[in-house]
Amino acid sequence: MRIVMIGAGYVGLVSGVCFADFGHDVTCVDTDAGKIAALEAGGIPIYEPGLEDLVASNVRGGRLTFSTDVAAAVAGADAVFIAVGTPSRRGDGHADLSYVHAAARDIAKAVSGFTVVVTKSTVPVGTGDEVERIIRETNPDADVAVASNPEFLREGAAISDFKRPDRVVIGTVDERARAVMSEIYRPLSLNASPLMFTERRTAELIKYAANAFLAMKITFINEIADLCEKVGANVQEVARGIGSDNRIGSKFLNAGPGYGGSCFPKDTVALVKTAQDHDSPVRLIETTVAVNDTRKRAMARKIVAAMGGDVRGKTIAVLGLTFKPNTDDMREAPSLSIITALQDAGATVRAYDPEGMEQAKPLLEGVVFCADAYAAAEGASAVALVTEWDQFRALDLPRLKAAMRDAVMVDLRNVYPPAEVVRHGFAYASVGRNA
Ligand code: NAD
Ligand code: UGA
Repeated sequence: MRIVMIGAGYVGLVSGVCFADFGHDVTCVDTDAGKIAALEAGGIPIYEPGLEDLVASNVRGGRLTFSTDVAAAVAGADAVFIAVGTPSRRGDGHADLSYVHAAARDIAKAVSGFTVVVTKSTVPVGTGDEVERIIRETNPDADVAVASNPEFLREGAAISDFKRPDRVVIGTVDERARAVMSEIYRPLSLNASPLMFTERRTAELIKYAANAFLAMKITFINEIADLCEKVGANVQEVARGIGSDNRIGSKFLNAGPGYGGSCFPKDTVALVKTAQDHDSPVRLIETTVAVNDTRKRAMARKIVAAMGGDVRGKTIAVLGLTFKPNTDDMREAPSLSIITALQDAGATVRAYDPEGMEQAKPLLEGVVFCADAYAAAEGASAVALVTEWDQFRALDLPRLKAAMRDAVMVDLRNVYPPAEVVRHGFAYASVGRNA
């Protein structure tokens, strides 16, 4: 199959390289000429484990190319995937569809022969209808079917999520589109097929419902964690105790500083807006959004409390800045609100992240960026562990303590067994564990 990905960001690049690895002929197109030039030169614009090698081998194999020329790429393609950003629209929280609509217009002008146009971006219900309308208006002769194929990969585990998905949702009732999409995903169907065909609007809603449910699950355990602290219970044991009931499931029950990232925050708000527009409010998700928003600054207050209530003039080391490990993505990272709140309280922040420092620097004024965890701890009165990178799981605690002024650790990801940290002479606080 000849496949074009419009947008070579996290989703476009990962999906594109995986499709190429399945044996298809893939062109990733982006309007960002710098990104395309970097990719052509062998550079990878994002940090994602395994991506560099997979891109290199598929480029070498002649199955993967990059371009800024939409028209040339789209002509003669079997399928064109729209994988551009759908950020929150400034002011009202609806998804900003301007990039999707622009891509639809570009595609319409260039298609030749039957082409399946697929929205892979996360888009509100009804966007497929609008994409189809734009294409028919721009080019009445275009022979296209517009399908929805939302993406469920996670950053940091993107390649394995894409290649071993729990399901692939394809929203189309068009027989020709169904045949093309089945062929594209055929390598996944060798044992039991994960393909699930639905109507287009259903596919669009599945994506938002999935993200909202996961965000709600995290928020639920975060509130239970707060209650654990008040009543003297242990949230990790509660999570295990409820999660081993497979009607609940054990995943996404790790209490922490609140969810962040490029998707849960914007997608929960967009779903709330869509639901309100249809006079069918999703109150659980409205509450999820509100609870998660207040949680981040509450985590800063937790750090301040662990340091005795006054941090003016003190230094705090923040370990981990990205919204989760194994990515350099800083979008909506909890660290941003936490650090700002600590600075508001009068503290100086020293910080270290294994991959996110370059992304973080323009977003965080006044922070001293350090070469590693121990340098960040230099002269600090507390260490706050905000992102659970593997390298923070095995810190040399005596060395860390020796660098610090006061030995306080606030572990917002429950990485350490409390007794181990306390044994090394730290005052220790974590989330929902009374220690
Ligand atoms: P991104 O910002 O990393 O990449 C989007 C890319 O599209 C950018 O490189 C941009 O230059 C390019 N672009 C914008 N308009 C274009 C146009 N008209 N023609 C060609 N290129 C254009 O975004 P992302 O994180 O890959 O997310 C893309 C979509 O996928 C969003 O809707 C997001 O919600 C969804 N999604 C993201 C993830 C994730 O883990 N990041 C997972 C599942 C779904
Ligand atoms: C999430 C979904 O997991 C993907 O299925 C989806 O495709 C993607 O959004 C998207 O639509 O873009 P991602 O944002 O990459 O993926 O990362 P997650 O692993 O889901 O983590 C999101 C946030 O929740 C992080 O801040 C993480 O620290 C937090 N989290 C996650 C918790 O606090 N506790 C948990 O148990 C799990």
